Amino acid sequence: MSIALLLLSAGVVILLVFLIIFRVNRNSTEQPLPGPPHVINEMDVFSKRGGGMPKFVIELHQKYGPIVFFTIGNLKMVSIGSPELYKEHQHLFDRPVELFIILVEVLGKGTIQIANGERGKFLHKSLSRPFSFPECKNYYPMLRKIGNSFVNKLETLPKHSHVPLLENMLILIIKEVLLVAFGYEFDDEDIARKQLQNYKDAFGDVFYGDEEAVKTKDENMYKGIVRYRQLLIDVLNNRLKTRHMDSNTHFVDVLLDLGLDKDEELDNAVSFFTAAFHTTAHLLTWLLYYLGEFQHIQDKVRLELDNVLKGADVSNDNLQQLTYLHQVIDETLRTSFVAPFAARVSDVDVQLGGYTVPANTPVVHCLGHSLTDPKYWSNPGTLPSTEFDPERFSEEHCKNRPALSFAPFGFAGKRICPGYRFAYVVAIVLVSIILRKYRVKLVDGQDIRKVIGLVTKPTDEIWVIFEDL
Ligand code: HEM
Repeated sequence: MSIALLLLSAGVVILLVFLIIFRVNRNSTEQPLPGPPHVINEMDVFSKRGGGMPKFVIELHQKYGPIVFFTIGNLKMVSIGSPELYKEHQHLFDRPVELFIILVEVLGKGTIQIANGERGKFLHKSLSRPFSFPECKNYYPMLRKIGNSFVNKLETLPKHSHVPLLENMLILIIKEVLLVAFGYEFDDEDIARKQLQNYKDAFGDVFYGDEEAVKTKDENMYKGIVRYRQLLIDVLNNRLKTRHMDSNTHFVDVLLDLGLDKDEELDNAVSFFTAAFHTTAHLLTWLLYYLGEFQHIQDKVRLELDNVLKGADVSNDNLQQLTYLHQVIDETLRTSFVAPFAARVSDVDVQLGGYTVPANTPVVHCLGHSLTDPKYWSNPGTLPSTEFDPERFSEEHCKNRPALSFAPFGFAGKRICPGYRFAYVVAIVLVSIILRKYRVKLVDGQDIRKVIGLVTKPTDEIWVIFEDL
């Protein structure tokens, strides 16, 4: 009896020891990781070379699943790419500064992009307001004006001209953002062209994959940064002189009234200008590209514009009724994942997918993976997850997916992109102007693929024809 008791106690002790070891292991980052650690050169983090960090991380997820651990230089990092894991990170506001430091050279150290804690929350809350849905109602006439001037420019071209789409969208959106957000208007398109060149010089290694610039940070890059920021200095000075003549409804007025010091003001003017124009211009490029590729979808959008608008302009009152166009934009955001990642950090250990992620470890939110994960996006028996199909966003299909499977503007800590409503408004106004006048067609023989960087752009310029209806 006593031997049996002894054996039973020994069994219980062994079981307890086993459970403790197992539990410690489960919660430790020392245990075998979901994917082996990978090392890439620090210089490559944001460069194009193969898409840099965003592409690298997407590929890790495709191989190892929704949570991966990896190393860049000496920096240990985690990446998550599923709605279930996003839920566990939904409460975090702070960004890992290390991942965004490369932007500071251009945006300045006062940028919202690396502002954490109370200051970050203050900036995010105050500077989101001018882009809220009710505020957007003031912007339609300005957006129409620029959209119509684009159409007028097209009218001066010979019929069937081949038009470079990305270049035109970048210039158009630079003009729209300067007018709508900063109250800055100019007739001379050269200003926008020059600013686009400054952007390419300043961000060469980050967005445009200039490998030499990565290695040498050449003089051209520094000159580009100075010129790029100078335009925003001019814009702020101009507003300080003219704002009493106008109503104070622009983003720039909110910025100037926040009580920031001059450097912070400029850094956030540059930050919002950049974040707004390059993402939205790429969204529009991909959107018109898909409409050109899928003529039946373009016809359906045009029919909806006719039925809903009946010849009127888009406004806050009818915008939501354009449900099919919203579906097409959402599918564009999904398949092109314009902004392929976000990131967060916590100053205490956090549990993530059953692992303990140590305090201060940067955690990437791999939107580029979750937006194309076949688990949520394959239409059973028909389309693979990378294929363009706006029906994925019909009411019925949306019901069957977790909300965070579609988070192209981020999701965590109430720090979702401040400009997301504005991006829809810009896209819808422009598409409504273009499609009611032209059929958009792709020039034959192009092989367009994606380059994943900080934004996802086409490998080469996309050439289109705007054909009279
Ligand atoms: C297609 C268009 C756009 C896409 C896909 C996009 C995507 C994103 C994403 C994924 C983030 C990171 C969110 C996070 O950390 O969780 C972000 C942040 C940001 N976006 Fe956008 N964005 C777009 C347009 C805009 C526009 C139009 C503006 C300005 C009006 C803007 C301003 C910003 C700013 C300032 C931040 C940083 C906010 C902060 O640090 O608190 N974006 N955006």
